[in-house]
Amino acid sequence: MKVNRKLKAGAAQLTSATKKLLDLANRNSFRHAGTIPLPVLKEGQGSVVVDTDGKEYIDISSGQMAVTVGHNHPKVVEAIKKSADKLIHINHLLHSEESILLASRLAEFLPKPLKKVLLLNTGSEANEAGIKIAKMHTGNYGVVSIVGGYHGHTAGALSVTFRGKNSAHRGFGPNMPGSMAIPIPNCYRCPLKLTFPSCDFACANVGFDLIDAQSVQTPAVFIGEPIMSSAGIIEPPQGYFEHVKNLCRERGMLFMLDESQTGLGRLGTMFGFEDDGAQPDLLVLSKTMGGGVPVSALVTTDVIENDVVDKGFFMRTSHMGDPLTAAAGLAVLDVIENDHLAEQARIKGQYLKNKLLQLKEMHPIIGDVRGRGLLLGIEFVKDPVSKELAVDETAAITAKCLELGLLIDAPGGARKGQALWRIAPPITISYNQIDSAVDIIDEAIKAVIPTAER
Ligand SMILES: Cc1ncc(COP(=O)(O)O)c(C=O)c1O
Repeated sequence: MKVNRKLKAGAAQLTSATKKLLDLANRNSFRHAGTIPLPVLKEGQGSVVVDTDGKEYIDISSGQMAVTVGHNHPKVVEAIKKSADKLIHINHLLHSEESILLASRLAEFLPKPLKKVLLLNTGSEANEAGIKIAKMHTGNYGVVSIVGGYHGHTAGALSVTFRGKNSAHRGFGPNMPGSMAIPIPNCYRCPLKLTFPSCDFACANVGFDLIDAQSVQTPAVFIGEPIMSSAGIIEPPQGYFEHVKNLCRERGMLFMLDESQTGLGRLGTMFGFEDDGAQPDLLVLSKTMGGGVPVSALVTTDVIENDVVDKGFFMRTSHMGDPLTAAAGLAVLDVIENDHLAEQARIKGQYLKNKLLQLKEMHPIIGDVRGRGLLLGIEFVKDPVSKELAVDETAAITAKCLELGLLIDAPGGARKGQALWRIAPPITISYNQIDSAVDIIDEAIKAVIPTAER
């Protein structure tokens, strides 16, 4: 599907069918993100989605950073259809043919000793499972995460999702006891005003000193993301996670990585931890597993699984291991392997990053371009030296991109005073679509910033 530029001009004119839908939404749809936003989507294929007015958009956020294989990948659609004909759902205590095969296939991709796979549906659920397993295995209860990290919106996962004064966990009472955070390893805006490598991972060292000083007992687990996506594509410096894992080991804590976004090829490797070499004791996979349907996994070792099962571990959610979602997961793994998606992400990611770096040279409002593989980020600044965030300008450029047919994820957005974009297209995106997306960004910046080069 190609982007239909002819329809751009009519973007502001909503059809009566769309207006009717918006009226209904305003009446009955809970505004979970504060508003009922446009566009209303109805179909999609690959990297393109179509709204209810027939306008096409290149989706460079893979839905919610999920469809690395592209929207409605034919193999995923076929697997879902076949499964729907056979059996959709089973009791959570049972396994299905597909759930057994998915766990076993996933284990084939993972380095030893990671091999025990607990299938669930969402990233939040898999993080809850990891936290519970860590608590039961260690006999401790504290959970250490990173300021700015994101692990989900269920109670436990949200408790270790620390987002400053606009945090999503405000308004719901106390956090899970023992929830603590260390400073963000953001070298573009170092919270300690130091420089890597001479800082010697001071953010982690100071963080763990504070945790030690405030804890009544050793925490159970540390949890982090190989690239902190919601925080604005913050890529910790090389060696950071190895260092953190050592700090965990010194204290008898488990080391857990949440690869909801980074796992299964997006970063140019099968798993994000491969680049850093710090293999986790507990691994979360989710968004990139299902090609658009909710299937996730918590993976751990035999030793940890045996221990917690002996201690009576029990976890249930109604749709864990359902044949339909597991079948989609199996199809996604096939596509990842057969179409070499990790390699594609590495090569296309470098191509896209180079193009964004060229834009940065042209437009001083682009303060930073970062990330690896096809998980990239842009930070917009009013001035490259002061690095003051260009919040309103980011909102205007994002809106202009939407008008021009480009869907972009701006986490938090102007509402939360952020000036960040996450750029994470399906790995199956074509080079032409990458070029079109970058052209639209260029055009949008020029339209919003009058002084931008013409
Ligand atoms: C790193 C990370 N962990 C966990 C989650 C939560 O996943 P879900 O929304 O599927 O519960 C997300 C979702 O954005 C995520 O990015």
